[in-house]
Amino acid sequence: MCGIVGVLSHHEAAPTLVEALKRLEYRGYDSAGIATINNDQLDRRRAVGKLVNLSDLLVHEPLAGKSGIGHTRWATHGAPNVSNAHPHRAGRVAVVHNGIIENYRELREELASHGIGFETDTDTETVALTVQYFLSEGLTPVDAARKTIAKLEGAYALCFLFDGEADLLIAARKGSPLAVGHGDGEMFVGSDAIALAPLTNQITYLEEGDMAVITRTSLEVTDSNGNIANREIKTVQIDSARVDKAGHKHFMSKEISEQPMVISNALNFYLNKEGTDIVLPGKGLDFSKIDRMVMVACGTASYACLTAKYWFEQIANLPVEVDVASEFRYREPPIEPGTAALFVSQSGETADTLAALRYCEGKADKIVSVVNVDESSISRESDLALPIHAGTEIGVASTKAFTCQLTVLLLLALKAARARGAISAEDFADKLSSLRALPGIFNHAFENNADFKKSARRLAEAESVLFLGRGLMYPLALEGALKLKEISYIHAEAYASGELKHGPIALIDKKMPVVVMAPRDGLFDKTVSNMQEVMARGGKVMLITDTAGAEEAGDGVWQSLILPQVDPILTPILYALPAQLLAYHTAIAKGTDVDQPRNLAKSVTVE
Ligand code: F6R
Repeated sequence: MCGIVGVLSHHEAAPTLVEALKRLEYRGYDSAGIATINNDQLDRRRAVGKLVNLSDLLVHEPLAGKSGIGHTRWATHGAPNVSNAHPHRAGRVAVVHNGIIENYRELREELASHGIGFETDTDTETVALTVQYFLSEGLTPVDAARKTIAKLEGAYALCFLFDGEADLLIAARKGSPLAVGHGDGEMFVGSDAIALAPLTNQITYLEEGDMAVITRTSLEVTDSNGNIANREIKTVQIDSARVDKAGHKHFMSKEISEQPMVISNALNFYLNKEGTDIVLPGKGLDFSKIDRMVMVACGTASYACLTAKYWFEQIANLPVEVDVASEFRYREPPIEPGTAALFVSQSGETADTLAALRYCEGKADKIVSVVNVDESSISRESDLALPIHAGTEIGVASTKAFTCQLTVLLLLALKAARARGAISAEDFADKLSSLRALPGIFNHAFENNADFKKSARRLAEAESVLFLGRGLMYPLALEGALKLKEISYIHAEAYASGELKHGPIALIDKKMPVVVMAPRDGLFDKTVSNMQEVMARGGKVMLITDTAGAEEAGDGVWQSLILPQVDPILTPILYALPAQLLAYHTAIAKGTDVDQPRNLAKSVTVE
């Protein structure tokens, strides 16, 4: 969603703000803006579109001052235009906001009753106007901010800057993450610690309901009851190479190529030194006491859960329910004793997933999360947080986080299988040895990149693409369709192969490619039958399989893409690669914005 920053520095604030916003641009890129205090005067610059437009504007209209706030926006209320861009200013105050103020209509009515008018369509402007109203009533900035925050409903991370107050930032958080960075006589605020990585690794994470009063030499945090709260300063390790594409044209291609390495990192974290056992962090999870699991996530992470359902049920004989968080949280499903609730999230901040987790608190026996960002809300609110070690993911389309989520979920399923006596010691050792070989096999699969590129060029001509998969390949088909639509804007849908004849077969014609994901496994013959049904109707099949599969599929296939043979339980992790590469090369052929596709944002902290 939106990204916010704040700076109280000894140096010019504008370059620091822009640099920090660059590191947050993955959160939103509809517009951007900064405000600073120069000679006690508040001033701001805002520009529509990518951050580079703001940088250009600052070349022509520089903004001096050593204190400032900044924002990169993913529009919720109001179109992405300059007037709706943050910082929003009312009189003496400027504010940047990530989240949604749900009661902004009531606040507007209240302000209107004081004769106060509006210049924007945003919910955030009401926050600035309310603070200014209290300032005009004679309240201090701290009191005006506190009184305003008490009126807000919804989700917010806020940072305020005041005219005439060059040594003051006020920040507050509820429902959206916020970090305060401690420098040497300097202080910083950021939506996450990554934004502040080049500035400091000394971070205080604000908790729900906290308000922080920040000067260059002090931080005072009060909790939701207004009591002084002691929030610890943590030393955070952040990958400082985060904004570096390492020679790749896009973050997405860099992140796709990193997969053998990060899968290996995840395996190293969970496997013992000999590679013969799986060790969970902390107190772990006693699967012998668990009767069922619910798994909840959004988007790509939900497809990781769907894949894991097959693993947990088939390998560990443990029933699993999977749901998307936005449905789960409002359906209020009963959670029976003996249930472990597991949440998967790259960012660890997805609003719906976090709400679903909170719904399960006190109901499920154990709250488990599979996350990429260590200090994220989802990680911190879990009984057991399982890191995926994918490293920072910048490309909006999730790639390496997905395969690392799958790796960790498979390890967990194997752990559960062993604890529940559902797998023999021999089979367990065999699966671990296959897993250890996976990074190498993944590397080998890259050798066919040129074929994927060639096939993608042909997909780029399509208006619509259908993905089919059966068993473990069904969630992969869903992931393939999602990747393709989000970065190439080609309409794509996925079905379980067996569902084809129950409706979607009506779509088949010469124009619509059908991507079939089918390794040569126990279900292959069934999928071949479905492929024949497509080809008999003039449909064009792009088959993603292994050498044995390609031979068996015979003639008539439009294009075959070959992957190395792997242990069948590993196919979802390996077959993520063609799903990603096809989407990537198709997007390149279409000339779309691969890393920052339209309308999307990386971290969805609003519902
Ligand atoms: C798609 C994608 C999204 C995310 C979803 C959940 O490529 O990245 O579908 O998977 O928004 O995000 P996290 O994992 O951060 O909870």
